[in-house]
Amino acid sequence: MNVLLLGSGGREHAIAWKIAQSSELSNFFIAPGNAGMRDLAQNVNLPLNDFEAIGSFVKENAIDMVVVGPEAPLVDGIHDYFLSTPEINKVKVIGPIQKGALLEGSKDYAKAFMQRHEIPTAAYKTFNKDNFVEGKDFLKSLQPPYVLKADGLAAGKGVVICATLEEAEKELSDMIEFSKFGNASAKVVIEEFLSGIECSVFALSDGKSYKLLPVAKDYKRIGEGDTGPNTGGMGSVSPVSFADEIFMQKVENQIVKPTVEGLIKENIEYKGFIFFGLINVGGNPFVIEYNTRMGDPETESVFPRIKNDILEVFDAVANQTLNELDLQIDTRFVASVMLVSKGYPDAYLKGIEMTIPTAPEETLFFHAGTKYTDGKIVTDGGRVLSVSSFGETMDEALAKSYAAAETIDFKTKHFRRDIGFDLH
Ligand code: AMP
Ligand code: GLY
Repeated sequence: MNVLLLGSGGREHAIAWKIAQSSELSNFFIAPGNAGMRDLAQNVNLPLNDFEAIGSFVKENAIDMVVVGPEAPLVDGIHDYFLSTPEINKVKVIGPIQKGALLEGSKDYAKAFMQRHEIPTAAYKTFNKDNFVEGKDFLKSLQPPYVLKADGLAAGKGVVICATLEEAEKELSDMIEFSKFGNASAKVVIEEFLSGIECSVFALSDGKSYKLLPVAKDYKRIGEGDTGPNTGGMGSVSPVSFADEIFMQKVENQIVKPTVEGLIKENIEYKGFIFFGLINVGGNPFVIEYNTRMGDPETESVFPRIKNDILEVFDAVANQTLNELDLQIDTRFVASVMLVSKGYPDAYLKGIEMTIPTAPEETLFFHAGTKYTDGKIVTDGGRVLSVSSFGETMDEALAKSYAAAETIDFKTKHFRRDIGFDLH
């Protein structure tokens, strides 16, 4: 099988690492890729919003399967583009059609979907410039803190939690009246604040049935003890101690099944990942958000635990035969620590030279923001490289990742030393 993977982060490196091991693989391309993926596949410079360029490349290289890493091309309709373009409409695309990707692309749509299918989530209302004044009244009816969410994609920054009513009113005005997130905040979801511990549940759907992938937890804040600003993710672990059998039964029955069945009832043929961002409120799961792709940095802990040949799994998604597949999961823990550039998520330097030794046994290095230039590997982003290790316990996996993190050298290196702190 000839495969094209779209994306350039740690998530895509972890996916690429699995694809590269497949016995079904013939030619492998990644667009655009990064320095770490150069050894696995041919990196090609295709803009992910240029579907025609991607389509032409797919034709010229007889690509059989396209695996979509990030959300933007899905929300922009890349799967629909393939389906409606004669010469490439048989290519297997892993990632939902646009109507499915709306679960991530519009918070208002996702909340209404959950309401229609009685999926537990925080109470909410949606506002725009026409009912902006009612939005202020709605805020007054809630208890602090206040949760405001830009409806559309806002590069992971569209959720704002305000401690006071004054801040919340100003935020609502900034989003709707002053287009803080451009068109993405023309509509704003205001919802009840839920208190609990979060985890990330992943399902792979073929449009008829689904398989649950290993559950993970990510650490979003820059600072230890979950303090400071949000980042794209500072680390992750899988599995998650509190996501035990009883909790996961509730997740499946109250959330995963009704979601997959809801998509089927609404005639949305969903072939791809569904990421349920969940919060455990007193033992009961609630959906904080849907994403329609894998999580980053969760993938760096989840994918190493999947034992199957991943192209066989993806093929079953495309052929709608997932129900016949036996998903094999490694019982060991994986813990991932993200090495970032000092200063991130604010200003940071790029182009810093890196020294990366060979990863020790049971440890994997997944590049996130790196570039190969003039024969050297240099930093090329805020999140630079994920160190992911197996262990019989979470602590053993973490200890291996921390030891390996010390062996990687770049002068702006920084990382959190408390990943998993809340799971003991
Ligand atoms: P993201 O959507 O990934 O930008 O992150 C939003 C973060 O805001 C989540 O991971 C939660 O920590 C928090 N959050 C979102 N909605 C709620 C809510 N209703 N109650 C409490 N926290 C929330
Ligand atoms: N780790 C959260 C996300 O990928 O959105």
